[in-house]
Amino acid sequence: TSLVTYRKSKVSSSPIPLPCIKSKTSNSSSPEWTFNRTLSNLIRKNILRFLDAERDISILKSTFKPGDVIHYIFDRQSTTNISENLYHLLPTVSPMKNQHYKQCAIVGNSGILLNSSCGREIDSHDFVIRCNLAPVEEYATDVGLRTSLVTMNPSVVQRAFQDLNSEEWVQRFVHRLQSLSGSVLWIPAFMAKGGEERVEWAIRLILLHTVNVRTAFPSLRLLHAVRGYWLTNHVQIKRPTTGLLMYTMATRFCDEIHLYGFWPFAHDPDGKSVKYHYYDTLTYHYTSGASPHTMPLEFRTLSALHRQGALRLHTGPCQ
Ligand code: CDP
Repeated sequence: TSLVTYRKSKVSSSPIPLPCIKSKTSNSSSPEWTFNRTLSNLIRKNILRFLDAERDISILKSTFKPGDVIHYIFDRQSTTNISENLYHLLPTVSPMKNQHYKQCAIVGNSGILLNSSCGREIDSHDFVIRCNLAPVEEYATDVGLRTSLVTMNPSVVQRAFQDLNSEEWVQRFVHRLQSLSGSVLWIPAFMAKGGEERVEWAIRLILLHTVNVRTAFPSLRLLHAVRGYWLTNHVQIKRPTTGLLMYTMATRFCDEIHLYGFWPFAHDPDGKSVKYHYYDTLTYHYTSGASPHTMPLEFRTLSALHRQGALRLHTGPCQ
């Protein structure tokens, strides 16, 4: 059977305020940054009251069986099923069980990374998180190559891999998955309706090619818990971005967290234009209100945490 046919087949079935978050602009690349271990520990402790990333990073085989009905988080009236294939790829234990890292990098997808030469620095972290299967090989100097965990919204299959509509796109997709060898592939399959088939195609290809990735599917409570944590801290985020979800979860298993490629603005501090993604031509109206995300608000929040030493935002070029 041609691989392309896989895309056509049917799918079976108590407030804890953050220490004063202010929204002044900061010089995020300032070299004087020092890690505030006390604050970072406090944030971890507070987030743990809402979610435990070790558990919430994925649902497990033991809690579901094939055919179980799931209500989408954002579209409660729509449902999907745990397919046989998806069940097969559910982990039996958390992929983050007992894992702890000194320094983690979370790589967002902003074009601010282009010409940053941050690749080597990013790769030097003990654990590297990337978002939405963003390409690395062609951009290695600026974004690095290592990947410990990468996310994949179902829409990525459509946006970055042309909905696998030709043999060539299938091969590219499989190649990208194979290059992840050993890392965690985090698929938010149950957040919004519409991605069911794409998730199923991806899963089938992983199984067919025995791709060596550890798949994870976020728990059904993760989104509400993350939102709850930030809300309790007076940061009203309707729909947290992948980057913020990753930061919130990473506090559980990382000491120092370094963020790269977070820049939800059309221009850099010198007024030069910045691409929305470093690797494609997607545009985005950061402040239009049309998007479900509130990236600039998230950015201000992360900047405040940067100034307090709880995390480090890298927005300038690396040495
Ligand atoms: O899945 P989502 O649309 O949230 O993310 P993405 O566009 O693949 O980018 C990954 C993450 O990088 C986002 O979730 C944001 O946290 C961050 N990002 C940013 O800060 N500025 C941009 N211009 C683009 C992405």
